[in-house]
Amino acid sequence: AGNITFTMIKPDAVEAGNIGNILQMIQAGGFRIKAMKYTKLSPEKAGEFYAVHSERPFYGELVEFMSRGPIVAAVLEKDNAVEDFRTLIGATNPAEAAEGTVRKAYATSIGENAVHGSDSDENALIEANFHFAGTEMF
Ligand code: CMP
Repeated sequence: AGNITFTMIKPDAVEAGNIGNILQMIQAGGFRIKAMKYTKLSPEKAGEFYAVHSERPFYGELVEFMSRGPIVAAVLEKDNAVEDFRTLIGATNPAEAAEGTVRKAYATSIGENAVHGSDSDENALIEANFHFAGTEMF
């Protein structure tokens, strides 16, 4: 399995003051930070990032949410990164997220779910390159 994944600490978690808590869980989980930035997505950028969901009924809401405030974007490295990170963050719907996961602790709803994690090695690379230049990854 590939060894990088891409994450965003979403606007809801930034607003709630949980950047530090979530980074702590990520590092305690054995992930190494390869790249990281505090930034804000324009609606256009958010729409492009989530283009794969453009036909879904929640797309408009998702784009509005992801562009409403700053986020932390990061590229993480670990053996089996994509799968292990999805285990760490828990189910998309916090009501279904396991005890001890990031979403169990910090997500408020299926839309405002605190963090993003790539769903495949292929998408991890696409998403990392969407947010970072090669010279920004270490
Ligand atoms: P994420 O895994 O970052 O990527 C797709 C996002 O779409 C997901 O997190 C949720 O934030 C959002 N999403 C998925 N399903 C729904 C839904 N039913 N209603 C609103 N947002 C959703």
